[in-house]
Amino acid sequence: MKALEIKNLTKIYDNNLVALDDISFEVEQGDFYALLGPNGAGKSTMIGIISSLVNKSSGKVNILGLDIDTHHSEAKKRIGVVGQEVNFNQFETVHNILLHQAGFFGMPFSEIKKNCEFYLKRLNLWDKRNEQGRNLSGGMKRRLMVAKALVNNPDLLILDEPTAGVDTELRKSLWEFLIEINKKGTTIILTTHYLEEAERLCKNISIIDRGKIVRNSDMNSFLREIEIETFVFELKEKTSKNLSSENFDIKKIDDGTFSVQANKGTNLNSIFDFFDQEGIEILSMRNETNRLEELYLKLTNNDH
Ligand SMILES: Nc1ncnc2c1ncn2[C@@H]1O[C@H](COP(=O)(O)OP(=O)(O)OP(=O)(O)O)[C@@H](O)[C@H]1O
Ligand SMILES: [Mg+2]
Repeated sequence: MKALEIKNLTKIYDNNLVALDDISFEVEQGDFYALLGPNGAGKSTMIGIISSLVNKSSGKVNILGLDIDTHHSEAKKRIGVVGQEVNFNQFETVHNILLHQAGFFGMPFSEIKKNCEFYLKRLNLWDKRNEQGRNLSGGMKRRLMVAKALVNNPDLLILDEPTAGVDTELRKSLWEFLIEINKKGTTIILTTHYLEEAERLCKNISIIDRGKIVRNSDMNSFLREIEIETFVFELKEKTSKNLSSENFDIKKIDDGTFSVQANKGTNLNSIFDFFDQEGIEILSMRNETNRLEELYLKLTNNDH
């Protein structure tokens, strides 16, 4: 059984904006999954649908085998969601916010108390437990939202940009915390703009842009793509030849320019030798290797 199964999910808002365009993907139990994409890509819309805050236009969503259309409340009990916006009553105390959330799920009171204490302490909010929500700093509010999402022991935790606007120290401690609960068995899905964050935390990744998944793979293969170097060669004289090699991927850019993709560590001499054998003299060479950030920009059309 998958933690999450999304099939042909489409969301068209009332203003006819297509926020999600026939998206399908799956998340295994125990996974740490990143939904990466620029502003407006559709990440929050997706999370809104999974957590039943946004109505889908068509498609299927299964949470741990439970169809959100037919098993709505059971499915809802299995997930915890940390939204992009503050979602608690700012006039309640920190402790009551958590108690009420757990009570909402009908948990036994002894377990509620235990969980509240555990998460408030673990997220460094115990000293603030009698403070009203509105008196917390931005970073504390975010931690409270994480505690609130976890207090009912969900199997699947979904976080919408958990580290947006938080300082480096908090970001790192939040990362450590998420890794810890993932190791204990909670499946985690997070959205982020930051590749670094996805790279540090996640095992699998989907890149969303304009409502479509433009890449879906495990993090290692994604990173391996960056292990390919791209060189651009300017020729001394133009040629009408088209070149190909078994050892590298050569593309003609124009009559005076070729680009060559080779695995990192390829001996450059072998590329020069290749041109030599073709009777082509090289004027200059530059390295245009994709860095992670560049690859991401390329996948999301370069204009963000
Ligand atoms: N209630 C709404 N009505 C109409 N359009 C909406 C609504 N909510 C979101 N949209 C549009 O849907 C698209 C996707 O928005 P969404 O919030 O899902 O993006 P996102 O990937 O979460 O972006 P960000 O990184 O900025 O949070 C955007 O073009 C947005 O303007
Ligand atoms: Mg969003």
